[in-house]
Amino acid sequence: MKAIILSGGKGTRLRPLTYSGAKQLVPVANKPILFYCIENIIQAGIKDIGMIIAPETGQEIKDTVGDGSRWGVKIKYIMQDTPGGLAHAIKTAREFLADSSFVMYLGDNLIGTGIEKFVDEFNRNKPEALILLKEVDDPKQFGVADVSENGKVLRLIEKPEVPPSNLALVGIYIFSPKIHDAIEIIKPSKRGELEITDAIQELINMGCNVESFVLDMWWLDTGKKDDLLTANAIVLDEWLKGSINGAVDSASRILGRVVVGRNSVIKDSTIRGPVIIGENTTVENSFVGPHTSIGSNVRVIRSSVEHSVIMDETELSNIERLDESIVGRRVKVVENRRSHKALRLMIGDDSVVEV
Ligand code: DAU
Repeated sequence: MKAIILSGGKGTRLRPLTYSGAKQLVPVANKPILFYCIENIIQAGIKDIGMIIAPETGQEIKDTVGDGSRWGVKIKYIMQDTPGGLAHAIKTAREFLADSSFVMYLGDNLIGTGIEKFVDEFNRNKPEALILLKEVDDPKQFGVADVSENGKVLRLIEKPEVPPSNLALVGIYIFSPKIHDAIEIIKPSKRGELEITDAIQELINMGCNVESFVLDMWWLDTGKKDDLLTANAIVLDEWLKGSINGAVDSASRILGRVVVGRNSVIKDSTIRGPVIIGENTTVENSFVGPHTSIGSNVRVIRSSVEHSVIMDETELSNIERLDESIVGRRVKVVENRRSHKALRLMIGDDSVVEV
């Protein structure tokens, strides 16, 4: 079995962060979302991976991910010239996929489980497609499935105005090569894309076996600010193991699970986990509260921050309370007059904010 990971697209919902970078590289617990996808695929025993990239962000993805050797796998890059939809991405990868079955993994999806059991199920039952579903509160913004009482998929609709259920399509799919025939039949949707949802519907119309699983663990499509903060909090809660590799002075308190990266310095501060701090970062006279990820080469001085993602090379200085915020790379947030209000920010890379 092969896998393709979709790392193209436009990333409009995470602007401004995605003006200057690929949304799949936005960090969750200091690791790009895309790395979780790659590792989940590898854990399922798949070594032949195709990475769909876009002209705007492809080079950054190549530079960050490399050729796969760090994971002992082969990653082949496949350029998709326009973001023509998920089914268009499969078309673009046709030569790489040849006549193999494959996993398609959207590079901005995170799930709280491995995918090996789905791969095993696919290999055992040999359906033409296996899809994952998850109950959500707001199905209108996803592909939605209408499923019979015995779990048979009756119908799939992309972003319906009147959803037939609250079962959203998770961005992880397994296909037999039959999907290529279905893709040849479909036409672009209202939003001008070749939708994978329509192609799977076409398989159903052909009488093919489409299996579904309803996930009972968390799933996040990290396309938006709140999803990203939630993903960060969940990953820190569930997967972080504390380890102190930097210098913590005796006036500081480390509570709960905290990671302090190499060459980082914690002075006169309290860090209440789960918190991850990257390398070469300084935290001085500050409080870093739960569910915060602070990148590398960051300075946090006389500030308080919690439930936030602070990316590399950023500086927070004299900030009384930063909460539920995402701060991009190379940002300065510096107080120049007293303010008693909490701040709620979403700031892109290279910004300078004075409050
Ligand atoms: O996240 C799950 C949802 O993903 C499903 O419920 C929907 O049925 C499915 O259509 C998809 O919806 P989105 O509108 O969220 O897809 P988005 O445009 O955000 O693209 C998902 C990923 O695929 C993202 O990492 C970018 C990449 N992509 C997207 C397009 C349209 C490509 O690589 N090429 C493309 O042409």
